Order: sequence, then C-alpha cells, then structure tokens
Amino acid sequence: MNRIAVFASGSGSNFQAIADAVGKGILQAEISLLVCDKPGAQVIERARKLHIPIFTFVPNTFASKAHFEKEIVSELEAYNVKLIVLAGYMRLIGEVLLEAYEGRILNIHPSYLPAFPGKDAVGQALEADVAETGVTVHYVDSGMDTGPIIEQVKIPVRPGDTREMLQKRIQNAEHQLYPAIINKLLQKDTIGGLVQ
Ligand code: GAR
Repeated sequence: MNRIAVFASGSGSNFQAIADAVGKGILQAEISLLVCDKPGAQVIERARKLHIPIFTFVPNTFASKAHFEKEIVSELEAYNVKLIVLAGYMRLIGEVLLEAYEGRILNIHPSYLPAFPGKDAVGQALEADVAETGVTVHYVDSGMDTGPIIEQVKIPVRPGDTREMLQKRIQNAEHQLYPAIINKLLQKDTIGGLVQ
C-alpha cells in the first residue's frame, strides 16, 4: 500500500477529502500520518475521528526549522511514508525535508499559478478583479508556490462573488482534483522511485 503523510495547518477540508477518497477506494493509499504545526487546528480532530496517527508540534519551541524538520523526517521514516501531501500547510518546506523527500512532496494552491502565490490567494484574486482564478497542484521546491506544475484547473470569478462564495467554489474543485491526482501519480509510480 502507498503510505502517504498529509501536512496541514487549518480546517483540513482537503485532508478530509483525501481521507474520504481513501475510504471509497478512489485513492488507493493509506494516510499513515497527519503532520500539523498548529496543535489547536480542526484538522487534528478530523484525524482523531479516523484513527489516523498525528504528529503535532509548535515550531517556535524549536531552535530552527532544521530542528523541527529533523523530527518530522524521523516520524515519516518510522511510518515508512513514501509521499508527502501538503494540504493547507502554511509554511515553507526547508532543506532537511526537501533533501529527505526530494520529488516526493506535493502541494495544492488556490490559484492558477504563477498568479497569486503565497497567503490569501483567494483574496488576492478578488482584489485584482480578475475574471478567473483557479487551483494548482505542483511539486514542492524551496520557493513559495514555485515548484513544477502537475495540473491546474480554472475557476471563474463571477460578478458579485463574495470571498466565501469564491472560496467555496475553489475548495470544491480542490476536493475533487487533489485525491484524483495523488492517485494518478501513485498508480503511474511517477513519484521518484516509489515502490508499492
Ligand atoms: C486550501 O484552499 C489550500 O489550497 C490552501 O489552504 C487551504 C486549506 O484549506 N493552501 C495554500 O494557500 C498554500 N499556499 P483546508 O485546511 O480546508 O484544506
């Protein structure tokens, strides 16, 4: 079985969509671990309900990013994780994780990259008054939402859209797209030497 870890910092609706897809057999994988940098985040409760192991930590209690990433890597290795899936993990990945999991870290971002990288991509799109925005799944490198793009979909911004309306439309697309792409990559075995 393909063992994946999901990294999240917030509500975890993407984590839930991935877990639901696993449950339905749409995504042939096992979520072996949730990694969360916010001990009070709603995603933790979601993982608990599903009996998925959780590694949670408080970044500023560590001397540096390298220090907490070393802890994360040893957790990932203990669970024999092959693929890292960032799902609203609001933190740049550092050298330690990149070296350990090069080519095996995915991210989903709520815009049609390279437009609107970084925080609050939905707010940025509304502010820019664009006719369409989107969702992007990409490999992670050391930059802010800059890694090689795997797949993108466009989402129209409708006249009168509130932030909530646009965000809902974007998240619905994310919940369909992300599990499907993860499964496709795992099935094709295109994730850097991944062995089932
Ligand atoms: C998602 O929309 C995801 O695309 C975004 O955070 C949200 C998390 O929602 N990620 C980024 O902006 C990364 N730069 P969720 O916790 O409900 O899955």
